[in-house]
Amino acid sequence: MFAFFILFVIIGSVLTLSSMQYKVRKIKKEDYKQVKKLASETYFPPRISWKRGPEEIIVSALKKGKCSAIGVFFKEELVSYLDYKESDQEAKIGFCMTKKEHRSKSLMSRLIELLLERKNKEFFVETHEDNKAMIRALKRQGFKESARKIDRTDGKETVVYTLKP
Ligand SMILES: CC(C)(COP(=O)(O)OP(=O)(O)OC[C@H]1O[C@@H](n2cnc3c(N)ncnc32)[C@H](O)[C@@H]1OP(=O)(O)O)[C@@H](O)C(=O)NCCC(=O)NCCS
Repeated sequence: MFAFFILFVIIGSVLTLSSMQYKVRKIKKEDYKQVKKLASETYFPPRISWKRGPEEIIVSALKKGKCSAIGVFFKEELVSYLDYKESDQEAKIGFCMTKKEHRSKSLMSRLIELLLERKNKEFFVETHEDNKAMIRALKRQGFKESARKIDRTDGKETVVYTLKP
């Protein structure tokens, strides 16, 4: 019985420690190198029409101030990233990615949740219909399908998810 108690305490401490090692914050200029690395490691293959890889497109938009971004860091390493563009009335979530080894730990859900907490506006996200993980993370936060489109670059169906304030 005592051995079980000790085991329980040890497992509990390790879990607490590892969740404490995840830190969420805004993406700053110093992080751009890490954003590039994460994008080139994790993002789905670039669309044929894109003249540059996703990592170039993401960092260039950040540099030009076209979007803002938040990220989750594990021991100072960027492991999850979300960017968005916003006006007074609405916000569009753009590129989202989580490093493979850190997926399904609710990191993207947490980033989406944080973004929603701070802003009282309508949110949009467009994703491919076969992106089950992204759709699951969006539905968890209450997003609902609002439109369907055909992506002209790959002929695949994309789904627009919306969350109204
Ligand atoms: C989509 C992505 C960002 C999700 O990141 P994540 O940090 O793993 O997301 P979360 O853990 O918050 O949520 C994912 C949910 O999908 C579930 N999931 C994962 N793979 C799944 C699959 N193949 N089918 C169904 N559900 C799946 C997870 O279990 C989790 O649900 P749960 O919290 O109820 O257990 C990540 O998979 C990724 O980087 N993919 C490649 C890039 C990409 O597709 N970006 C999105 C473009 S719009």
